[in-house]
Amino acid sequence: MRVGFVQFEPIFGEKDRNVRRSIELMEGLEADLWVLPELCNTGYLFRSKEEVEDLAEEIPNGPSVQAWREMARERNTHVVAGMAERADGKVFNAAVLVRPSGAVNVYRKAHLFDEEKRWFEPGDTGFEVVDIGDARIGMMVCFDWIFPEATRILALKGADLICHPANLVLPYCPDAMVTRCIENRVFAITCNRIGVERRGGSTLTFIGSSQIVDPKGQVLVRADRDEACVRLVEIDPTLARDKRITERNALFEDRRVALYGALTEG
Ligand code: ACM
Repeated sequence: MRVGFVQFEPIFGEKDRNVRRSIELMEGLEADLWVLPELCNTGYLFRSKEEVEDLAEEIPNGPSVQAWREMARERNTHVVAGMAERADGKVFNAAVLVRPSGAVNVYRKAHLFDEEKRWFEPGDTGFEVVDIGDARIGMMVCFDWIFPEATRILALKGADLICHPANLVLPYCPDAMVTRCIENRVFAITCNRIGVERRGGSTLTFIGSSQIVDPKGQVLVRADRDEACVRLVEIDPTLARDKRITERNALFEDRRVALYGALTEG
């Protein structure tokens, strides 16, 4: 299976341009699955609730999903992309999995970062796994990485490959995702954006460093901090189904769930 990411710089509010740019970067390259950054059609630094509501789109009928859907259908590929979703009078920081059949799956970010709490509702979809034939896909978004429960639940539900759109500003995630992959024996594609956003007196610098990691924690590819780029690698997702660590250790069977009660207490 050929999988990749599209690291680029969305321009705030320029949705048509940003979606076109993401598609342009994938042009001429063959892949079974692409991962794009978090909020990659809108940009990140919202300054009012009205702004978020204006830029958010319904899924699947909004123009961004329609454009990625057309591309996925024409090129027989899958696209995972971060975007703002409007649904039932609420706005979510969401990721979509767009399939060549036209089917669309949605994940709504569970763990909101900093000012995102002003703009978005916490996600209510939970962590679901989608079987696309070549692999079982789990989605999470950016700051979900710091809650190991997110990746663990996806792995327990059978995910081979975690698709992880991000807008990282702190430096820790790329290395932490290596651990998430080792402790769950899964592949992960983290796709971060690049560039600087300055709006309303706030400035954020995004750290790029998008990467693809295998179930043994090997970084198969990692991008620079500031280059717009695509990277593709060939993976065998079924390697993620072998959870044996030694002859006597198996990742999931060896868990001592009776000792883990505190994990689910409020
Ligand atoms: C983040 O969750 N965008 C840091």
